[in-house]
Amino acid sequence: MKLIVCLGICLAITFTVAVKAPCIELSDGKQMPVVALGTGRGTAKETESVDVVRQAVYWAIEAGYRHIDTAAIYEDESEVGQGIADAIAKGLVKREELFVTTKLWSDKHRQDQVVPALRESLSKLGLDYIDLYLVHFPVAIKPDYSPDDIDYLETWRGMEEAKALGLARSIGVSNFNAKQLDRLIANCKVRPVVNEIEVNPTNTQIDLVTHCQAQAVAVMAYSPFGFLVSRGTSNAPPPRVDDPLLVSMAQKYGKTTSQIVLRYLIERGLTPIPKSTNKKRIAQNIDLFDFSLTPQEVAQINNFNKNVRVIDMADWKDYPNFPFNE
Ligand SMILES: NC(=O)c1ccc[n+]([C@@H]2O[C@H](COP(=O)([O-])OP(=O)(O)OC[C@H]3O[C@@H](n4cnc5c(N)ncnc54)[C@H](OP(=O)(O)O)[C@@H]3O)[C@@H](O)[C@H]2O)c1
Repeated sequence: MKLIVCLGICLAITFTVAVKAPCIELSDGKQMPVVALGTGRGTAKETESVDVVRQAVYWAIEAGYRHIDTAAIYEDESEVGQGIADAIAKGLVKREELFVTTKLWSDKHRQDQVVPALRESLSKLGLDYIDLYLVHFPVAIKPDYSPDDIDYLETWRGMEEAKALGLARSIGVSNFNAKQLDRLIANCKVRPVVNEIEVNPTNTQIDLVTHCQAQAVAVMAYSPFGFLVSRGTSNAPPPRVDDPLLVSMAQKYGKTTSQIVLRYLIERGLTPIPKSTNKKRIAQNIDLFDFSLTPQEVAQINNFNKNVRVIDMADWKDYPNFPFNE
């Protein structure tokens, strides 16, 4: 009996120490951890094999992440699934303790394509359900990347089917602007619980974030480091990783400037999605819950805003439903 009690307490302690990020409740009642590991390949070096994603996912779970963000278009769902399977096999975590997000790509926007696309993602991930399925972009394209004329309201009916089948526990969108979100909410049976959009110091998205939060749509913040990290452009706006204001905040709290930026997003009620394949930086990017920024510091970081996007999708700017022209 004593042994069982002791084991129970020890396991409880181990669990508390391992899980780093708290959860927020989504509007459908599900719990979502407020930091997700990004697995997009946009910043990967050309020579880097996709196999690093498997290791990154494992390290992330080991470091306390319980939320992993992937997408069909990243072409790494298999590696994400392998990392998850490795962690489960090692006893680090159970499937039901994880929150896995993936996304429907724009060439599968017809209603009858949605469930088969999700089944394909699940097969690659080795999972029988996804926690959160997102419409990746409001624009529909043909397989040759030319524009297609499919209303995202039709796509959403397919998303609702995916939820009704239990294949997706929650459904949401990504890269929707305020008008598109309102139109979707006005014409759906199941409301989107998340809008995943770019938010960082040079693209603070104050209006869109406020709008989403007023509609009980949680915001996941992609490309959270903005131009702190290299994006291959020479004239990107500040801040960089050595920005004096961020360095002074980092020194005050004993953190790195990257952690200051992630904490800034947390203070705004967002769920940042830092991507890293480096073990040390993966751990650093979730070590955010032993300090907080003041409202003045949040306002100072907001002042960096230039409405400049890391991801501008300029090639699609003339396509129907392009969201970034507003
Ligand atoms: N829904 C959408 O349309 C959409 C669009 C873009 C991205 N996303 C999601 O958001 C995730 C993150 O966005 P992102 O990949 O554009 O960029 P990001 O997370 O803002 O930046 C990633 C870059 O920062 C570096 N880095 C990570 N942690 C660091 C740290 N502590 N200090 C210094 N450098 C650090 C990474 O290098 P190392 O790997 O070497 O650490 C990598 O070069 C994606 O992976 C994806 O899951 C979604």
